[in-house]
Amino acid sequence: MFMLFVVFMWAKSVAGEDGWFWQVTDFHYDPRYSIAGVPTAMCHASAAGRQAGGSPGVWGDYLCDAPWALINSSVYAMRQIQPNPDFILWTGDDTPHVPNEELGQQIVLDIIGNLTSLLKEVFPAKRVYAALGNHDYHPKNQLPPNGSDIYDAVAEFWREWMDDDTANGVFKQGGYYAVSAAQAHLRIVSVNTNLHYRNNLLTADMPDPGSHFTWLDRVFIVGHLPPGFFELKRSQYWC
Ligand SMILES: *[C@@H]1O[C@H](CO)[C@@H](O)[C@H](O)[C@H]1NC(C)=O
Ligand SMILES: *[C@@H]1O[C@H](CO)[C@@H](O)[C@H](O)[C@H]1NC(C)=O
Ligand SMILES: *[C@@H]1O[C@H](CO)[C@@H](O)[C@H](O)[C@H]1NC(C)=O
Ligand SMILES: [Zn+2]
Repeated sequence: MFMLFVVFMWAKSVAGEDGWFWQVTDFHYDPRYSIAGVPTAMCHASAAGRQAGGSPGVWGDYLCDAPWALINSSVYAMRQIQPNPDFILWTGDDTPHVPNEELGQQIVLDIIGNLTSLLKEVFPAKRVYAALGNHDYHPKNQLPPNGSDIYDAVAEFWREWMDDDTANGVFKQGGYYAVSAAQAHLRIVSVNTNLHYRNNLLTADMPDPGSHFTWLDRVFIVGHLPPGFFELKRSQYWC
């Protein structure tokens, strides 16, 4: 995904309690975003200057990764719209779409750290349940099945949100974890889909990389009436 995406969800639990959560994903923060950049080249700072047909703005451009101004403004806007969600889901992809040579482990970690800090600054009392994306690694897509310095560092960034040493340790090994939410009867399972990504060369031949499925206990949920609403009659929920 190329664009910052923020979703606001309403949920009704079996106990009949209403609740709210935010989901944020694909921030793709580009520290080198520039209004002098070129939209067809993702607006990265470059000597090329502006080209006909595109003039990226201070708040970003449809074709480009996000400048900090857009990310900061979006997260503060979330607080204005709904300051009191039950929790926030953050589903990854934090770094810009640039070649590996233009990134590095430290830059990737700085970016994940920047976004972690922003969410803590704006929602200090809220739990954020986060998952890694394929861009949240260096080299990109190559998330290992058996621990790494990046998993260790990110586990420290996210430690207070997990609030569970076992989960934090599991994350350091495989980049996935499960925790009980503060809300009754709610368990959050954050899987590391990148272990199964076709572009991950490290795990390509493994039947169960990182013992992910062994840990997960696979569950199929089957049924007739779907969640949500009928698209032709949007005022009515199915259930
Ligand atoms: C982030 O947004 C807030 C709210 O609009 C503003 O007060 C603050 O100066 C912004 N920070 C940055 C670094 O842009
Ligand atoms: C991101 O983090 C790095 C390292 O801590 C820091 O130097 C940089 O100023 C941060 N950027 C933003 C936008 O907060
Ligand atoms: C993971 O396994 C690979 C291949 O066996 C090995 O090179 C690497 O050192 C291991 N990493 C950790 C953190 O154990
Ligand atoms: Zn993405």
